[in-house]
Amino acid sequence: MTDFGMTIAATDGAARTGELTTARGVIRTPAFMPVGTAGTVKGMYPEQVRGLGADIILGNTYHLMLRPGAERVAGLGGLHVFSNWPYPILTDSGGFQVMSLSGLRKLDEEGVTFQSHLDGSTHRLTPERSLEIQGLLDSDIRMQLDECVRLPAPRQEVERAMRMSLRWAERSKAAFGATKERALFGIVQGGDQPDLRIASAEALADIGFHGYAIGGLAVGEPQDVMLAMLDTTVPALPLDHPRYLMGVGQPDDIVEAVRRGVDMFDCVLPTRAGRHGVAYTRFGRINMKNARHADDRRPIDETMDWVPARDYSRAYLHHLIKSGELLGAMLLTWNNLAYYQHLMAGVRAAIAAGRFDDFVAETKDGWARGDL
Ligand code: GUN
Repeated sequence: MTDFGMTIAATDGAARTGELTTARGVIRTPAFMPVGTAGTVKGMYPEQVRGLGADIILGNTYHLMLRPGAERVAGLGGLHVFSNWPYPILTDSGGFQVMSLSGLRKLDEEGVTFQSHLDGSTHRLTPERSLEIQGLLDSDIRMQLDECVRLPAPRQEVERAMRMSLRWAERSKAAFGATKERALFGIVQGGDQPDLRIASAEALADIGFHGYAIGGLAVGEPQDVMLAMLDTTVPALPLDHPRYLMGVGQPDDIVEAVRRGVDMFDCVLPTRAGRHGVAYTRFGRINMKNARHADDRRPIDETMDWVPARDYSRAYLHHLIKSGELLGAMLLTWNNLAYYQHLMAGVRAAIAAGRFDDFVAETKDGWARGDL
């Protein structure tokens, strides 16, 4: 079996392109990871996700522990077998989803007790239990349990959560105890406070992880604050390990984060926006619900080499979305994930060719031009 590792093939400024090696396959970076919360990338066949060029998808401890249960998934052969995705999977630790989804919750030094958003039943997550669940799922990349604070928040609160996340990082590492074929990432917290971000990054690097995530961003702060936090955080992280910006983001956020040295991303936007009738394109976002599409015979973008952008009229997509038809959500999800993977392939090629800044400028020109 292959040990987890990273190689960097080329850099352009702070941006890098390379490969993560895992036992279940190679991940080309910078990478966008489609979100498969409950063991499915909503509305997509696994082979279709793969066909778009996704090397890795994300799964969630929180959802899978509640339904169908981690022990059950393990009994059925693990998440890869269960969901028919034999390629790499990264699982988030659950802390963030507890904060955003669950009902009543109580946080203490040991962990967090919460009520399921499904049936109100009571559950508990500790760093140890989160890693145990991620082990039962047998994900390739596992995340420490952390506490993410929504912004704006008082500095004291941000610092308390950051320090506790560091203590949970130590416990997560002790609990990981897996073979060299699986990886554990620490998560930087510290809100919008540069000194707390640096302290968090340095302490995590001292503990030592396979990779480093930057959490607690895209949680209500403006983009310039997020980018400023990357400007301070990334240089405090080890050069030769992957950096993962959690839950980000819009295509513009992604290229700006790559410019600052981030290697991995995940976000529900392409899938969720697709289900709500929004298409991501070279010309920015198009809301297919808008009545102006009702008689438009043109496809979304016939120059793209994926079916939903090329072979369906805007009028038909508009009709499907307006009618709440499953196919509308499926076609737009497909289009959006295809666009995101196309963007990442462009990002990687541009870094390799030493023309990343030009690529970003050209790409942004397209988005600014808008829909034709
Ligand atoms: N997803 C988006 N942001 C975060 C975060 O700060 N922590 C975790 N665990 N997951 C996230």
